[in-house]
Amino acid sequence: MSMLRIPRARRLLSACQKRHQLSAEPLSTPLPSTPPSSNRPLSTSCPINYRTSPSLLASSPPIHEPSALYVVGGLYGNLQALQFIENLTSSHSSPPTVIYNGDFHFFDKRPKTFDSVQRSIVDSESVLATAGNVEKEIASLDSTSCGCDYPEYTDFKVTERSDAIVGRLKKNAEPHAENLLNLPLFRRVEMPNTKVGVIHGDCNSLSGWDYAVENVEPVDVKLRADLNMRGDYPVTSVSRIVEDMEAADVDILCCTHTCLPYMQDLGGGKVIVNNGSAGMGNFEGDKTGLITRIVSGDEVGGGGEVVYEIEVGGDRGCRVQSVKVDFDFDAFWEEFSNEWEEGSPARESYEGRIWRGVGFWSADRARRMIE
Ligand SMILES: [Fe+2]
Repeated sequence: MSMLRIPRARRLLSACQKRHQLSAEPLSTPLPSTPPSSNRPLSTSCPINYRTSPSLLASSPPIHEPSALYVVGGLYGNLQALQFIENLTSSHSSPPTVIYNGDFHFFDKRPKTFDSVQRSIVDSESVLATAGNVEKEIASLDSTSCGCDYPEYTDFKVTERSDAIVGRLKKNAEPHAENLLNLPLFRRVEMPNTKVGVIHGDCNSLSGWDYAVENVEPVDVKLRADLNMRGDYPVTSVSRIVEDMEAADVDILCCTHTCLPYMQDLGGGKVIVNNGSAGMGNFEGDKTGLITRIVSGDEVGGGGEVVYEIEVGGDRGCRVQSVKVDFDFDAFWEEFSNEWEEGSPARESYEGRIWRGVGFWSADRARRMIE
């Protein structure tokens, strides 16, 4: 097995500037070893058009939202989860801002399902969308990668299967390629007394892993063991994330991509949250998806089960919440299993997670508070 060891002093940079350390899809079982990096499939590559920066986020025109913002990452083509989210977001007295921050396509191999997802998100005037690597790659004719930017120790079969899943969506994406390629990489939302950055990976790359919970201080040693992170992998310090957020001029940062949820109080009124997946289970034994909701101090909320939350700024601030997506599992599984037969790449990589969530992860560990 080849395990790249990176000196501690090396700063964690964007995905386009380094190789990453973690799998884009934390599995319910530890990942087996990988072949040498020279044999790595193409999804470890990182296109230059994935690059972003905190200053670009700071200068992007803001969306003004007075009461509630939903951020939905990793829907993965789950129409039943989409339906649940539409019902949830329509329960507010005034329509909230809803942003699908990438990877909303993935399992929607059936053209009818793909078109429904596309119509409900990219073509919709009532919600907003930003790109994930999936949207970028399915719309890129010359790409043979999923754009996940997998780490060295990810099982190369997982990588190959993700590339194969994305490859099977290209025909569906063809008529929508221009719209998909033109999706913004991030959004900026200004709420009363709170500024929110909505990204996919990290502040420097669409497929960046610097804010993956496995990489962020304080190190969760057990999690690193669960993910087979053997070796001296670098840590993204809290001060580094706060520095990025200050440069981006945001108080709350919402990301997804790594597919493993967490919410962390960084101190000083700053919070980072990764919703994991809206379309698949996230915690041990739990099949429900997860999304992020931010509600201003006066907003009573929009229903749904809040798994955990952090209050920012007292009475005049807001609450950052992780909310369950309790979709119709039987209907989803029927569609998924009809489209992805036994032995297919999606079935091989995701059946376990769909049925049992992430085996080593729990809400208690995902909610990370400062001492
Ligand atoms: Fe992603």
